[in-house]
Amino acid sequence: MGSDAESLNFSLPVKRTAKQWAIQIGKYFGILCAAGVVAALVIYFTKDSTEPKTLAGGIPDDTHPVLFDGSIDAANPYKGPSGKELDNTWKDLYDINPFAAPGKDLKALHKTSIEVPTQPGRFFVSLAVFHQLHCLDMVRRYVHNDHYQMDGHDSSVPIVDHIDHCIDMIRQALMCHADTTLITWKGTFNRPEPDFNAEHQCKKFDKIRDWAKNHEVNMTDEFEKDPEALKRVLIEGIEQNAK
Ligand SMILES: *[C@@H]1O[C@H](CO)[C@@H](O)[C@H](O)[C@H]1NC(C)=O
Repeated sequence: MGSDAESLNFSLPVKRTAKQWAIQIGKYFGILCAAGVVAALVIYFTKDSTEPKTLAGGIPDDTHPVLFDGSIDAANPYKGPSGKELDNTWKDLYDINPFAAPGKDLKALHKTSIEVPTQPGRFFVSLAVFHQLHCLDMVRRYVHNDHYQMDGHDSSVPIVDHIDHCIDMIRQALMCHADTTLITWKGTFNRPEPDFNAEHQCKKFDKIRDWAKNHEVNMTDEFEKDPEALKRVLIEGIEQNAK
């Protein structure tokens, strides 16, 4: 008899009391909330695994137009006579300690690194542009070898092989970023002169360098023995491997 009454209930229009209405609305509200939580979780986790760009949170990536200085005889702080002043100007471009990235950020890139001793779960990483600039500085020094005497370098790899490595790294970086800014000519058909003073769309390098400076690991805290030696291993790589 009980089951007959139930099936009858389903087939007939039901008149609900206020309490029954409250329970019914409560049920639907509960289902909606649960669906919302599930959706939020799905969005959170898929976002986390598909956006390695957010590595270590907010490395500046915005761009702005920059007018290149393309004249051979124009002076700027990166040209001029070899010496301590010029060396320091170049060094300021790339001489930055690594920073500490969370392991899960590296996992998303299928990479691993060396753990930072005082920060378990965080690993040393550096930005490629700083190694590329370091390499270009090596080439600059080699061009002015009269001044820098690089052949006597304390390394088992001949200096020319090291410079070749640097040129090859810079080649790959240039091809990777393939700057398609238009270059025009001045002068006449018979005497054309390229105009390198073009406006390029550039990453905000100063902002990236400031970010890296603000996030660098204090190597003195990490390695009391010889923080400079470790920094060379992490940043310059090949020089130290060659020893
Ligand atoms: C790095 O750590 C050492 C030792 O704790 C400290 O003396 C030094 O001032 C720190 N350097 C910076 C740049 O914070």
